[in-house]
Amino acid sequence: MRLLLLAPPGAGKGTQGWVLSHRLDVAHLSSGDLLRERAEARDSCAQLIREHQMQGDLVPDALVLEVLAPKVLHAAAAGGFIVDGFPRNVQQAEVAADLAAKHGVTVDAVVYLHAAAEVLVQRLLARAEREGRSDDTPQVIRHRLDVFERETSPLVSYYRKRGVLLAVDADRPPEQVTADILDRLAELTPGHRAP
Ligand code: AP5
Repeated sequence: MRLLLLAPPGAGKGTQGWVLSHRLDVAHLSSGDLLRERAEARDSCAQLIREHQMQGDLVPDALVLEVLAPKVLHAAAAGGFIVDGFPRNVQQAEVAADLAAKHGVTVDAVVYLHAAAEVLVQRLLARAEREGRSDDTPQVIRHRLDVFERETSPLVSYYRKRGVLLAVDADRPPEQVTADILDRLAELTPGHRAP
């Protein structure tokens, strides 16, 4: 199985990505986690990633591709993947589609998790109290939601037009969201694939 998880901050990409990767026995690749890991190095790229993540802005596309592409291609060859948080704009989607076509990789579905902004803000503020993630401040959360609306939400129609979008209501307990995604994936017909 090869899935992309598309969702605003707090909708549950990380939560569902982790559970689904275990249920489907494929790798879970979170662009946010991989970039945070890369940001721990002591070089100028790491510094650039830290600055963008702290402000809630998208990291430059070339850097994201450099970090993520080898891992996705490796996971594709090893049996499948759940990619959470990539692509984040139409340019990333187009570059990824070209790369995927070049390597013969297809995607079975793009799962779009949606919930109202106030639900997302509450979840992220609650996480801030528990975990203290540096971009979970009220101001940066708002900015991340704005960035999603402006940069990432056009991907909903982009993937819907390509016939691979599964829209899932994420404002339910996590287990119900997982069950819904798995039911919807089971309904996919063979051949329902797009680069
Ligand atoms: P990233 O790490 O992807 O953060 P995000 O998109 O802001 O998403 P979150 O991790 O905040 O939320 P989530 O949807 O994963 O929800 P989660 O499951 O954690 O990206 C961070 C930054 O990295 C970006 O701002 C950008 O700078 C950079 N970046 C990443 N990818 C990039 C790309 N492709 N291009 C450029 N830059 C990129 O859940 C959140 C909370 O809600 C948790 O506490 C969880 O327990 C709870 N929760 C989850 N589901 C439910 C539920 N159903 N009911 C109740 N609570 C729930």
